Amino acid sequence: MQFNSRSVNPATAKHQCLVVGIYEDHSLSVTAALVNAASSGHLQRILKRGDIAGKTGETLLLHDVPNIKAERVLLVGLGPVDAGDGARFVKIAAATITALHNTGSKSVLCCLGEAPAGDKNLYWKTRRLVEQFYAGLYQFNAMRGTSTAKAINLTQVDLLLADKTDNKDTKRGIKDGNAVAAGTALAKDLGNMPANICTPTYLANTAKGLAKDYASVTTQILEEAEMKKLGMGSLLSVSQGSAEPAKLIVMHHKGGKAKEAPHVLVGKGITFDTGGISLKPPATMYEMIYDMCGAAAVLGTMRTVAELNLPINVICVIAAAENMPSGTASRPGDIVKTMSGQTVEILNTDAEGRLVLCDALTYIDKFKPATVIDVATLTGAVVVALGAHASAVYANDEELARNLNQAGEDTLDRVWRMPLWEDYQVQLKSAFADMTNTGGRDAGSITAACFLARFTRKYRWAHLDIAGTAHRANGSDKASTGRPVNLLCQYLMDQAAH
Ligand code: BES
Ligand code: MN
Ligand code: ZN
Repeated sequence: MQFNSRSVNPATAKHQCLVVGIYEDHSLSVTAALVNAASSGHLQRILKRGDIAGKTGETLLLHDVPNIKAERVLLVGLGPVDAGDGARFVKIAAATITALHNTGSKSVLCCLGEAPAGDKNLYWKTRRLVEQFYAGLYQFNAMRGTSTAKAINLTQVDLLLADKTDNKDTKRGIKDGNAVAAGTALAKDLGNMPANICTPTYLANTAKGLAKDYASVTTQILEEAEMKKLGMGSLLSVSQGSAEPAKLIVMHHKGGKAKEAPHVLVGKGITFDTGGISLKPPATMYEMIYDMCGAAAVLGTMRTVAELNLPINVICVIAAAENMPSGTASRPGDIVKTMSGQTVEILNTDAEGRLVLCDALTYIDKFKPATVIDVATLTGAVVVALGAHASAVYANDEELARNLNQAGEDTLDRVWRMPLWEDYQVQLKSAFADMTNTGGRDAGSITAACFLARFTRKYRWAHLDIAGTAHRANGSDKASTGRPVNLLCQYLMDQAAH
């Protein structure tokens, strides 16, 4: 799908579909008024019939509108005539692409740049349109055998410029939207890929692929033997029950000056989480193919960063392993030594995410990072706390927390700050080791973050618990959301703009 900005008359444009907005009280947007006038009041006649009220996201497809060159006109409800807000704009964009997908249109002239979006500017609106159009057409077809995917007809989307001076913002919105959409699609694909295909080795190969595709990216894979030498006893205790070897994936994007401190992203890459010997119940275990969504988000973000060639240094590290029960698996009660020297009593082998992340978080200290953000489907407790709408954010640095919050509000890929108070640390007290890997039932997401905090004292750090936001769980409707790629990309774009 190709996006372009266009300065044309909607009435005479020869696209297969024209997309114009109408408001809830039947009042016409500027472009709808143009189409209405050119068709001698056709739109107003249709509206009078009452088939569309103009409520946010309503759509009505018209064919062969008199005196209009486009084959179709798609009317899209913009909601009430007011300033609107960003979320409403996104809803309008999503409804538009759903309706377009159900037509045979190959080329579209989209006149939604004038739709209200509160204080959001044209760059923002353009980028969201591009992102939402890609999201609406996203399908995961890699695993299909004989069944066929729904055909995608749309190849050309032209965005109408209200004014020629809008061209620069529109072009930038298209460029960034394309790049974020590409990163999001990669994260979705990896998340949706089943665990028999998407192994730690598969993630490592994907990272190597990024290095092949982008000149700014280099990839290095640390094998189990090297991790053992580094003393990553905690990470290796998770993979020891699996036939799949663990991988520590290290990617560098060099876009800034050589000596500039890098922003480091760390992803949890448990390609399948059975729980280990502390086996999960079977009913929803299949969901645990998504336990590498932190890794997927980090890989996706790296793709966007490389695509845009952001003028900063970014390092992505992925702790990739499979958590399986077997004769070689770790047992509840085992005590392991982390790379940091601290020891951990594994009370529950299902709290494996923190066990792989802690060693990765110790490893990255050598990069002297500007900021560190780890991303993990870490706890079921965060799903209870925040549901599917916000990722939990924990931070040992106020500015970093603020910046992530800002990026979340901007992209609507939102986060909610949670406490990292010392008060919670007592829940990690162990009889024999420096800490346990579980903090009991209470405040499960917080105690998981408190565990990680013991390994991140040397740098500015934030932790995102994305167990509720990275995927939708429902049976045949299960799907990766690609979150929080947009959030992370926005955060890094903001850093690059400093
Ligand atoms: N991968 C899970 C967390 C999870 C739950 C992700 C639901 C996505 C959806 C994690 O490894 C886990 O099992 N956490 C345990 C920790 C507990 C044993 C302390 C949990 O949350 O139950
Ligand atoms: Mn687990
Ligand atoms: Zn897990």
